[in-house]
Amino acid sequence: MCFVVDKHILFNFSAFVLPLQFNIASFYSAQIKYDSPFKGFSVNKIVWTESNMSHLSAYDAALDSTYMKRAIGLAKKGIARTHPNPRVGAVVVKNGKLIGEGWHHCAGEAHAEVNALQDAGEQAVGACVYVSLEPCCKHGRTPPCTEAILKAGIKRVVFASSDPNPNMAGGSLVLKKAGIEVIGGVMSVQADALNTAFFHYIATGLPYVISKAAISLDGKLATYQHDSQWITGAKARRHAHRVRAECDAIVVGAGTLKDDNPSLTVRHARLKGKPPLRVVIAKRTPRFFAECKLLNNAAESRMYVYDASNEHTASWCHAGMAIIEVVDLQAALRHLAESAYLQVLMEGGGQLHAAFLEAGLAHELLLYQAPLLIGGTESVNFWHGLGAPHMNAVVRLLAIQRRRLGDDVMIRGKLFYPSEM
Ligand SMILES: NC(=O)c1ccc[n+]([C@@H]2O[C@H](COP(=O)([O-])OP(=O)(O)OC[C@H]3O[C@@H](n4cnc5c(N)ncnc54)[C@H](OP(=O)(O)O)[C@@H]3O)[C@@H](O)[C@H]2O)c1
Repeated sequence: MCFVVDKHILFNFSAFVLPLQFNIASFYSAQIKYDSPFKGFSVNKIVWTESNMSHLSAYDAALDSTYMKRAIGLAKKGIARTHPNPRVGAVVVKNGKLIGEGWHHCAGEAHAEVNALQDAGEQAVGACVYVSLEPCCKHGRTPPCTEAILKAGIKRVVFASSDPNPNMAGGSLVLKKAGIEVIGGVMSVQADALNTAFFHYIATGLPYVISKAAISLDGKLATYQHDSQWITGAKARRHAHRVRAECDAIVVGAGTLKDDNPSLTVRHARLKGKPPLRVVIAKRTPRFFAECKLLNNAAESRMYVYDASNEHTASWCHAGMAIIEVVDLQAALRHLAESAYLQVLMEGGGQLHAAFLEAGLAHELLLYQAPLLIGGTESVNFWHGLGAPHMNAVVRLLAIQRRRLGDDVMIRGKLFYPSEM
């Protein structure tokens, strides 16, 4: 079967694929209650249940999923651009034709629904809006999206994720009260995944931290002479640069700054938005060195230090590095989140990985494991700290992905702490 031509996308799918998509979407929706490691996440969620979907045929539900998939695809254009706002995409559909599409470009600019409605123009009267996040109903930096939807004469709204932001949530109720048919939770797992960092920030006030490292088979980050270049091969390193391009900030410890003088830039991958902020964390301001690569103009850089009282602080500041004094790691992270850096890639080394794990401040793990052994009691371990005292206290990995990258293996998953059991 074939729908729509218009200037937009051509949707092609068979009678066989439609029920299949419906089933997959239903399955994912049911998973929500179990997958979210963050307590309180599901508080505002409208899960796709029998009660709000039962009137739809499998065919209609599959159509909804198909258009929602397009909305989520548009939302992805906001990766590395929209924070502290969520990534949101929307399409407007009338009589089986896609007549408008839009996405949220960056904070302060129009929301996805408004852009999609503008694209559809006057044809939007009587149409359906598919949006990857529940429309907002409050004045923020822009007027409420519910107003734009009502003004455009929309008859039906389908959304994926519920808005967990208490300042913005409730749009679906406003629309329902105005007589619009509203369905929530369609492809919400996929849409939620796109905004993991935003949802985490709303729930905790902290950024979502991905701990990333290249490790040997025996879990080492570097040799006893602190040599780590390179543990993994080109494919793994290119992959890591693609992940950097999706993050708002890259964080390393003072030891890595000293040992590696890293650039912390996105190379071997296309930048999606602004270059990520480069961040160093130290207890005391590290020794100044003029050849530090973080002092070039490739991206902004800053250091969080507990004690900025030594003579190096002035030299760093003079060379253009921002130094911010904080009381602990959590305060540094909170400051990052407050400055709109919600998705953080923490690249180590071993002491900083240990500090994040032991404080429960890392949320996702991204390891590239190379087929080699480094060995040694003085080499740098991935978790170079106290570690778990017994097996009941180990940190586990959930939702694990494994992927071969050349000779290396990527292992990625959500960190699950004993306190969350
Ligand atoms: N294979 C990889 O993916 C990878 C990645 C990065 C680094 N490395 C390697 O790892 C080695 C460096 O690792 P490392 O463990 O020696 O150093 P590190 O973790 O990069 O940095 C350690 C420093 O970070 C600061 N720090 C640690 N915990 C802290 C906390 N809770 N709060 C504030 N500051 C904290 C301290 O700064 P102060 O000095 O001020 O106390 C500490 O000395 C290098 O050999 C590097 O090549 C490998």
